[in-house]
Amino acid sequence: MENFVIYNPVKLYFGKGVTGKIGKTASGIGKKALLVYGKGSVKENGSYQEVVSSLQAENIEIVEYSGIRPNPVVEDVDAAASLGRNENVDMVIAVGGGSVLDSAKFIAISIPVTHSCWDFATGKTKPKKALPILGVLTLAATGSEMNPFAVIQHNAEKKKIGFGHPLMFPGASFLDPAFTISVPANYTAYGIADLIAHALEGWFGEGDSTLTDRFIISIIREAMDYGPKLMENLTDYELRAKIMYAATMALNGLTAQGKKTGDWGVHGIGHCLSVLWDIPHGASLSIAFPAWMALQTQRIPGRISALGKEVFGLQTPEDTIGAFKTFFRQIGCPVSLKETGIQMNETRQNELLEVMALNKVSGMVHKLSTDDHRILVHRMI
Ligand code: NZQ
Ligand code: ZN
Repeated sequence: MENFVIYNPVKLYFGKGVTGKIGKTASGIGKKALLVYGKGSVKENGSYQEVVSSLQAENIEIVEYSGIRPNPVVEDVDAAASLGRNENVDMVIAVGGGSVLDSAKFIAISIPVTHSCWDFATGKTKPKKALPILGVLTLAATGSEMNPFAVIQHNAEKKKIGFGHPLMFPGASFLDPAFTISVPANYTAYGIADLIAHALEGWFGEGDSTLTDRFIISIIREAMDYGPKLMENLTDYELRAKIMYAATMALNGLTAQGKKTGDWGVHGIGHCLSVLWDIPHGASLSIAFPAWMALQTQRIPGRISALGKEVFGLQTPEDTIGAFKTFFRQIGCPVSLKETGIQMNETRQNELLEVMALNKVSGMVHKLSTDDHRILVHRMI
């Protein structure tokens, strides 16, 4: 087992009605908040109203930035940071899914400076200060609510980069599964695929940490037991709660402890699909993971078989990959680009290969060569 430190300062409120506590938490931080959200789902599912009432009850002044897109882009974050800077806000509050939370994290480190958030993402400069961040999660998927990571896309540069810093942990996150009941079937399924992919990135990482492996398997089995049931009954609070809890645990450190690193090569591939064709994150992973496992069949057959045995009671890598594909299809996720409506002609294949090279797509453990990129593209068609 590798040496490790557990540090997760996020105060997580989970359950019915917990968002009502956000005003009190905010009043302990300051008097003025930048409230960030997406295109409007928060106004339909009640989360916006609950947050605003709770903040108003504590006389917190609110400045709003709305319109954050799924697969968030640099321009929105920079514009929101500039608004927050001019308005002299004391904190950033995110209400929405991973895209809004990730944007809030970049906004929080960008308000104290004057350059673009992209300079942080590319490593040109390091954050030294951040405004406190509060999160109200309305979509179970990314784990952003309890981790210090954020992912941002630069369309002109055709890059999507993940970045993490301890200053980017939310101070508190409020998770009321009732707010996720309005998530449509497609995004519910993408969220399930994403949380499974986070556990898998840990499984295919490096380092012998058997208890962590058991956490990983438990999370995948939970998602596989209850995910399909949720897809049959999207309004079931208990099922929403189970998936929300699983998604948070899949990327809050629990699936990494005692390992040197996760792999994260599949996320790199997925980000290229999002940059090029705006494919939702979870859907990019249900396409990329089976392709990646197929590429690794000869290289790490034992690890893939062990996964198949624990999750499905299967013996071979081929059967394991087949079972993952069946599962993703069963919940309504694509397992090929064709299933998303993208016809992969030669031009598109080359375009994807270029973007994979530009984004230096590889794993932390299982390195990917240019030949591997070609095989992967071929398998994802
Ligand atoms: O724009 P609005 O109106 O909010 O609609 C959103 C959006 O269209 C909608 N939605 C959210 N909550 C809803 C709802 N619709 C109805 N009812 C609700 N309660 O869902 C759509 C997708 O939202 P988004 O935030 O994009 O989804 P997700 O949570 O999957 O976030 C994806 C982003 O997170 C990044 C991804 O790369 C992607 O950019 N990731 C972040 C990670 C992290 N911070 O640790 C790790 C992940 O691997 C991932 O890379
Ligand atoms: Zn992910």
